[in-house]
Amino acid sequence: MAAAAPHTPLSIDTLRRARAGTRFGCRIEYFGSIDSTSSEARRLAAAGAGEGTVVIAEAQTSGRGRLGRSWASPPLRNLYLSIVLRPQIAVAEAAPLTLVAGLAVVEAVSDWAPQAAIKWPNDIVIDGRKVAGILTEMDADEDRVRCVILGIGVNLNAVPEDFPEELRDKATSLRAATGQPIDRTAFAERLLVCVDARYTLFLAQGFAAIRPLWEQRSCLTGRAVQIDGAGQRCTGVVSGISDDGSLLLRDAAGDETRLVAGDVTVVGGYVKREDG
Ligand code: BTN
Repeated sequence: MAAAAPHTPLSIDTLRRARAGTRFGCRIEYFGSIDSTSSEARRLAAAGAGEGTVVIAEAQTSGRGRLGRSWASPPLRNLYLSIVLRPQIAVAEAAPLTLVAGLAVVEAVSDWAPQAAIKWPNDIVIDGRKVAGILTEMDADEDRVRCVILGIGVNLNAVPEDFPEELRDKATSLRAATGQPIDRTAFAERLLVCVDARYTLFLAQGFAAIRPLWEQRSCLTGRAVQIDGAGQRCTGVVSGISDDGSLLLRDAAGDETRLVAGDVTVVGGYVKREDG
C-alpha cells in the first residue's frame, strides 16, 4: 500500500478497524480540531468513559505539555492522542505510568527511527532533539486511582516553521529525522499496539518488568547532567532509575540521590558516544 500523503487527514476508519476489539480500540473519538485531546478525554472520563477510550485530533488549539507549557499542534501534521486509563491501583503505584508510556512511544518511534531514545522522565528524543512528549494527569479517590489521562504528542511531519522559534533547534519530527513523509495512520496504529503491550505488562507484573526495558532505551544513563526543579539544581552522573521511576543521580562524592521530577540538561550536549 502506498504511504498516505503527509498532510491528508488520518484514515480513522482504517485505524478503528485495525484496533477493533482491543483495549485501545473499542472507542476512538476523532476530532478535526479541539482545545486539547487530554481535556476532552477528561471530560469523557468525568461522564463515565471506560478504560481504553481514545481521543485523537487533527489539531489542538490549546495543546498543553508538562509544567504548564504549551504543545505546538498544527493541523494534519502530527499525532495528538489521549487515552483514558482506569488501572485498579493505588495512587502511590501510578507514578511510573509516564515511564511505561515513554517505553511504548520510543518503541513505536524506533520502527521509523531506530536511534530514538527516552530522556527521563518523558521526552522521546532523536539525536538529542525532542520528537514526542507525554503528559499524564491523574484523578484520584483518596488513595485509589480513579483515572489517568495519558496524553501523547508525536511530531510526525512537522517542519521547523511549525515550532515556536525558541524551540526550533531543540525539536524535530520523524519526517525531519528520516527524510521521509510519515504515514500518520500507520504510526497511530503502531503506537496503540505498543501502548497496549507495555500497559498490559505493567498491570500484570508491575514496573519492575518495565524498568530494564526502559533503561536500555534511556539516553541519560552514564551521562553527566544538570537537573533543575522546585527551585533547586542538582548535578551528577545518571546511574539509572529506581523501581518507582525516580532518576538516580550520583554526585562527585559518590552519593546517590533520587529525583522524582525535574528538567534535565546533558552537560556538554548530546555528543554521540561510541556505545550509542
Ligand atoms: C510534554 O512533553 O511536555 C508533554 C506533551 C504532551 C502533548 C500531548 S498532545 C496530546 C495531548 N493533549 C494535550 O494537550 N497534550 C498532550
